[in-house]
Amino acid sequence: MNDALARAESLIDLTPDYPEPGVLFRDISPLLADARALRDVCEALAEPFRGRFDIVGGIEARGFLLAGYVAAVAGVGVLPIRKAGKLPKPAAAVSYELEYGSAAIEAPGVLQPGERVLLLDDVLATGGTLAAAQQLIRDLGAEVAGSAVVLELSDLGGRAHVGDVHTLFTARESA
Ligand code: PRP
Ligand code: MG
Repeated sequence: MNDALARAESLIDLTPDYPEPGVLFRDISPLLADARALRDVCEALAEPFRGRFDIVGGIEARGFLLAGYVAAVAGVGVLPIRKAGKLPKPAAAVSYELEYGSAAIEAPGVLQPGERVLLLDDVLATGGTLAAAQQLIRDLGAEVAGSAVVLELSDLGGRAHVGDVHTLFTARESA
């Protein structure tokens, strides 16, 4: 990891025993609030996919922030991938399992057939959210150009569910 990314990682705020005992919660808010860190992280997220995507898919909620930045720098548009029930005319929906219960994400019908989508989110945990977003893109007749997240919680095994994923930082949920 280069110095710029090490600096960005050092800005992640740690809260022990939140939201439950034994979990070390990592909040990227200070990283997002720092201009250099935000730039360095967004550049690093997109770097392996440079020139190979047509639009950036941001997964609600913090994925929106990353997707907007990366899209503006790359000169492409944004696909907002939303929690279910927020869009008037969802073109596709995919359900996924949570630790307790299930959830769903939806996307508007704005992709062209075969359009190459770079998917971004803040965290990869169990992988349910990102795997659902990947399926959503395929269901819309588009192509997943790549998937990238800021932080992978490696002890939750999400990587096994999402194929290739580019992650900047790796940590354990319980530490
Ligand atoms: C968090 C995080 C990822 C997702 C990762 O979002 O921002 O999107 O969980 O978890 P997974 O890999 O186990 O699916 P959350 O659903 O809490 O909602 P938010 O982004 O709207 O806060
Ligand atoms: Mg999320």
